[in-house]
Amino acid sequence: MCEAPISAPGRPAGILGQLGLHEAEFETGMHEALAVAEKWLQDCAHDAPDPRIAALTGHLAAAGGKRLRPLLVLLGAEFGDPWQDGVIQAAVIAELVHISSLYHDDIMDGATTRHGVVSANARWGDRAAVLGGDWLLARAARLAAGLVPAAIDLNARTADRLVSGQLCELTGPAPGEDPVAHYYEVTAGKTAALLAMSLGLGALQAGAPASRVAALTGYGEQLGIAFQIADDLLDLSAPAELTGKEQGKDLLAGVPSLPVLLVRAGDDTVDGELRALLADGAGASPAAHRRALELFRRSPVTAEAEELMHRRLERARAFLGELPPLPARRALTALCDFVARRTA
Ligand code: IPE
Ligand code: IPE
Ligand code: MG
Ligand code: MG
Repeated sequence: MCEAPISAPGRPAGILGQLGLHEAEFETGMHEALAVAEKWLQDCAHDAPDPRIAALTGHLAAAGGKRLRPLLVLLGAEFGDPWQDGVIQAAVIAELVHISSLYHDDIMDGATTRHGVVSANARWGDRAAVLGGDWLLARAARLAAGLVPAAIDLNARTADRLVSGQLCELTGPAPGEDPVAHYYEVTAGKTAALLAMSLGLGALQAGAPASRVAALTGYGEQLGIAFQIADDLLDLSAPAELTGKEQGKDLLAGVPSLPVLLVRAGDDTVDGELRALLADGAGASPAAHRRALELFRRSPVTAEAEELMHRRLERARAFLGELPPLPARRALTALCDFVARRTA
């Protein structure tokens, strides 16, 4: 039905196997649930009756991804009764919303590669890609209608936060507003909200007590900020074979990532050349782009951004102290280490 995307060998697959949990029974159960969610996700993403539309809407789902959000849903559900109806459905919803946001984000950033394949906007054009993203969000909303009321509400509020975060990035800081504070506001919406929602949706659907839902979403908000800082750093340092995205794309698109903002806010005595390059547009020529990436590797802002990421991970871990010591809690702890050493 849909055309097979060009595969991307060498890119790491799901996250669970990389957490080093040594909890065989728990991991087997998780892998089984993730496999069911994956099958359901592929069916949903490809189920438009017209095969040309299915090719568009199923494109990024078929191309892969780490599937962090479905994993978070399933981990959240472990703090209630994970066998409740709707838990796997919630995992599918979280990934559909995520993939939808990638269609839109790639249009905004003019990205040509995603998940190691050509982006939907590069292949079908912006007009089709925006509608492909909308279609996936609508598909998620249809599934979400079957969840418990608190989960429906969380899903709707998160879509609002996600879009508002992206809009907020577009509009930029208000006159006089601190650009780094604005970055955190943007990131809370565009990235952290969906990670928090994933944990919350799983926990709510599994009937977990409110105190656990609050601890899980609190953890997700902090993990999400750390995840985005890691993503910003990877954009500057990681080759496309690992991330499935063009290296240095944020610089090309003029995205105000945290390292860029730290350079701009930095002391005049360091990073002078880099600051000048950024002011002229580090994507202005291939040579300027290459030079900016090289200077970032040597710049103290890399360590500074890593430190800010570690602080967020500390805050995330603190929330886990409010949860019972289940294998899922150990997985969430290990996820903090995974984000700290993220390579894709
Ligand atoms: C990418 O998220 C968008 C951000 C929030 C930075 P992921 O890194 O989780 O995307 P996948 O794994 O490629 O789907
Ligand atoms: C975008 O963050 C997050 C969303 C998709 C909403 P980025 O712009 O950093 O994501 P990538 O780097 O393109 O994956
Ligand atoms: Mg982007
Ligand atoms: Mg990014």
